[in-house]
Parts: sequence; structure tokens; C-alpha cells
Amino acid sequence: MKRLLAPLLATIAGCTLAGSAFAASDPLAPTGQWSANTRGQAQTPPMGWNSWNAFGADIDETKLLASAQVLVDSGLAAKGYRYVDIDDGWWAKRRMPDGRMLVRTSAFPSAVTADGATSLRPLTDRLHAMGLKAGIYSDIGRNGCNQVFGAPDAPGLPQGTQAEREIGLYGHVEQDIALYFHEWNFDLIKVDGCGIRALGPDNPRVKAGLYRPLGPVIDFDELPRTDIAEVRRLYGAVADALARTRPAGDYVLSLCLWGSANVRSWGKDLGNMSRTSEDISPTWARMLHNLDSTARRPLYAHPGSWNDPDMLFIGKGEFDATHAVEARSHFALWAMENAPLLIGMDLRQANAEQMALLGWKAAIALNQDPAGNQAVLAYDSAEVQIYVKTLADGTKAVALLNRSAAATHATLTAAHLKLVGEIATTDLWTGKSGRFTDETTVPLAPHETVLLKVSGRRRLPDGLYLSEMPGRVNPAVDGVVQPQPDPLVHRGLLPWNDTRGTGEHPRYGGWGGAAVDSGPYGQELQAGHEKIDTGIGILAGSRLQVRNAGQARFTARVGVDDAAWGNSGAVTFQVYGDGRLLAQSAPLRAGAALVPLAADVRGVRLIELVTRPARASDAPDPVIWGEAALRN
Ligand code: GLA
Repeated sequence: MKRLLAPLLATIAGCTLAGSAFAASDPLAPTGQWSANTRGQAQTPPMGWNSWNAFGADIDETKLLASAQVLVDSGLAAKGYRYVDIDDGWWAKRRMPDGRMLVRTSAFPSAVTADGATSLRPLTDRLHAMGLKAGIYSDIGRNGCNQVFGAPDAPGLPQGTQAEREIGLYGHVEQDIALYFHEWNFDLIKVDGCGIRALGPDNPRVKAGLYRPLGPVIDFDELPRTDIAEVRRLYGAVADALARTRPAGDYVLSLCLWGSANVRSWGKDLGNMSRTSEDISPTWARMLHNLDSTARRPLYAHPGSWNDPDMLFIGKGEFDATHAVEARSHFALWAMENAPLLIGMDLRQANAEQMALLGWKAAIALNQDPAGNQAVLAYDSAEVQIYVKTLADGTKAVALLNRSAAATHATLTAAHLKLVGEIATTDLWTGKSGRFTDETTVPLAPHETVLLKVSGRRRLPDGLYLSEMPGRVNPAVDGVVQPQPDPLVHRGLLPWNDTRGTGEHPRYGGWGGAAVDSGPYGQELQAGHEKIDTGIGILAGSRLQVRNAGQARFTARVGVDDAAWGNSGAVTFQVYGDGRLLAQSAPLRAGAALVPLAADVRGVRLIELVTRPARASDAPDPVIWGEAALRN
């Protein structure tokens, strides 16, 4: 009976299986294919070292190899820090007329070749021989960030004519990717976006004839003035070139668009890691800002495609040797967020305490946990935040963060952890263990993060809530019609501005995106006057993908959120399994109570959760997949 009904229901609902002409034009039609990126090599967040925070563009191979050697000698490499990434400053020029990129051999003497063509192959060979991997840096435009934002006499700037100074990938994708990944044998590329952001015809350096104008394709302050499709197309071409050059998939593509161009919604579909904010600086406020830029988007990070709040700044400024508490917080939070762990200090200068922090095994294990679940905010305030991360073995990690400069405490409850009964805790820094029932109060020093591992009986004994497994949930279509900057991410200041201008404004697209345990606009989940603390909040007109790992049942309570204006009309909730309609709700209106929805998902690999509004709207209603879970 169910077999007969399914195609009928699918037709009634206006969707058919993937492959038909209709499916191609209907973004809500199930595809049966996980659409977040799986190319490249980043099943867990990449770890290593990058030259930028340590040296800016004033780099050379001595500095690079010195830190690489420390990685190996200290055992950090064995703990996972494998990538040694060259950032801005390695290039001399683009050779004319054939366009081959040349290396700044004064800084990289091993790149000298008899014919003048230069090669970074000796350097990558050396790093590979040390058991490490090598990363290189470029820009999606014609010119790079240092050329745009650095002082005119900054170190590491390319030299030569205007054309020779066009060192970016623009117009050279195939040639450069082949050079970097085939001839030079790099393993990772970070692709910055300054060349399409800042070099419009009004830029003073363009006006002075230093660079050719391009775009700007990205307008950082105004999303509607950014050509999002074009930015995506440009980066997509790089992703495709990499896949062609390295068919075995042994590479990492790092997107550096600082949260602009609505990259939140598509970066996960083509890169291995994607920057969520402007550059980190070594201040507490700025570190929090970068943290905030990833904190509410765990559904946009998965094995193969991670949120990147930027590189570690341990070793400098407010994370230097005199700021051990802040440095530990920074590391613990990056570990919990599944941020790539890229060391940003000159490791020759690291003292024993800093080396111990970077080698903090228990925190690294959280970051590298195979389940790939970014931590979820279980409690949020300007002062204290509680982040919870579900691990592959079913236990959880929790970070209690004191954002403030005053001593305080956090009360951690069983509800935060979705556990019941007696809960065992281990402090991952001190090793101290404890137990509590219902709740426990933890003192927090100024700027301290306490990192605990916890285990206990699950509130849902026979499965996992989707909000406990964001690494397996992908908002293939998150329902956002008009991308808007996220107003919750505004706490940081660009330090060089002091208080000139009017301060920091919302700028990173992401408002209204799919959220864990909250509505897409940050509200608590509530329908029919009932508040619930668990579920996915998303806009109507969305398609979530969920990887099933052998579970038998999908269950949820679904409805339109009480925060809705009723713009979408009645919303139908549909559950698909590998492209087949398994269950659907009646059309549900704003104000109605949550209704149960269940499906048999035995044997199903990919579940797709579709919400179909009766009416298209520029301001779709928030809807709730409440208590959505996969169960045995
Ligand atoms: C941008 C990036 C940084 C760094 C610099 C190099 O600002 O966001 O991470 O790569 O460029 O100039």
C-alpha cells in the first residue's frame, strides 16, 4: 500500500524523482545525493602552520622550514599538524608572455633554476620528506591582498610591469593550478578574494595605474551589490581545476572570502574550509568576533567542508606567553568549532607552555573527532556561553566560556547536554573528574574556557536528535530568498580604525539560515505556544539533507514557528528517503500546534526534509523540525 501511495503523494505534492526535467528546475525536489562538498581531503579539519599571523608577507624559506622542523621535532606533526602553508609574499611576478608564475628567489633560494623559470618543487619535496604537507596561496582576482591593502613598500610585493604584477588566478586558473599542484606538488591552496573586492575603477591604486580595474565583484558592505553567482562561478572553476589536476582527491581547497558574497550558503558545496569573517587579530575582542561568525552555523560545516574562523593567534598580543588563560580559551574554542587548527606563530619562539597548549591532545581529539559535529550553542549571552559537541562515541564535550573580564560562573544543566540522570565529567585541561545530577556550577576566571568531557544517559535513549549531529545535516536549500547580513555578528572592531567612523556594522550574509535548537532568526523554537529546546529551525521552502547511518526511524514534531507572519501560507512537511517520498504532513498554518511526523528509513542512505509553502514569499515563514531524530 505504501509503495503505491508514495508516487501518488509525490505527484500531488508537486515533486518527482531526481532526473526528470521538473526536478532540475525545482530546488526542493529531492536529489538523493548529498550536495555538500566531498571532494578534496578534509574528512577532519586540516591542521598545520601558516606563515601569515607569524610573519605577514615578510616570509622566507628559512622561517618556514624552522617552524616546520619544530613541528616534526616536538611531536606536533605526529599529533596531526601536517600542513605547512605559505601565505602572501612568495611571488616575484608573472612571466611574460607565457604567464608562468615566478618565485621570489631572494626569499626562497631553493627555487632558483638554471633557466630562470624558478620552482618551489625543492621546497615541497623537502617538506614531504619531513612527513609534512605543503600549502600555497593565491587570489581569485588578478591581484592579491598585500597589493591591495599593504603599504606600497610592504615586503613580499610582486615586482615588474602592471601585467607582471598580476599574480592572481584570474584568467590563469588552469595554468596556475597545474603549476602549483602538478609541477610543484603542493597539497593545499588558500584562495583569497581581495582582487575581486577592492580594485574597482575608484580605487586610488587603480586610478594611479598600478593595477587594472576589476569589478568590484564583491561589495563587502552591501550584499545586493555583490555578484554572488559570479563569485561562486570563479571559485567553482578553481575547485574543478583542482579535481582535474588531482583526480585522486589529495588536496585541500581553502576559501578566503571572509564571510562575504553569502559564501555561508555555497562555500560548503565547493571548498574544504571557508572563512567566516574578516582577519583575526591578537586581541580578545577580535577572537570573540571570529568565534561569533561561526558559532550559529554548525549546519554549514561537515566532514569535507569546514567553517574557518581564521588561523590561531596563540603566541601574540592577548594570546602571548603572559595570557595563558586567553590562549587556552582560543584553542579550546577553535577545537570545539571544528576550525582548521593552523598555528600562526614562529615556533622557534614558543615556550614549553605554548607547545603544551598546541599539543593539547584531548582538545585536538575533539577537533578531529570523526563525527565532524561542530559544537552547538546550548546557552548564549554576552557574558557566558555554553557550547556542546556530540562525539562519535556518543559522549559529549562542553565548553563553558566566560567572555567577560570579570570572574563569574556557569550553571551547566543536564538539559544543556540532552542527558538525564547522573552525569560524569572530566575537565580536559586539569584531568579532574566529577559527577552531577540536574546541574552543576562551574567557576570561571576572567576570559576562561572550561572544557569538559561528559557522559550520561541520553534524553533520547534510542537515537540522536538531528541537533546532536549537525555534521550529518546539510541545508541543501535553506530557504533564504534574499541574503541579509547576520546582525548577531557585530561584536568585533577592525583595530586599525580605532573609533573613527561609526563602528562595526553587520556585514556577513547568513541571517535567516538554518539553525540548531533555535529559529533561523535566533529566536527560541516555539509553535502553538509550545516552546521546545531541540530541533532544526529553518525557513519554509527548504530542503535539508540528513545522512542516515543505519538507523530505522525518523521522527519529528513539525509546524510553523510562532515567529511567522503567515507569509508562506500553509506549509507541507515532507520526508524523502533516497528520493522517494516516505511521509508528509497535512498543510500546517502559523499558530497551529506541532504535529508528529514519522517515517521508516530502514535501508535509506539519504533523508531529505522538505518544507513546501503554499505561497512563495520574499520573507518566508520560519518552520520547525522539532525534536527531529534518527532512531533505532
Ligand atoms: C587576507 C586574508 C589573510 C591573509 C592576507 C594576506 O587578508 O584574509 O588571511 O592571507 O590576506 O595578505
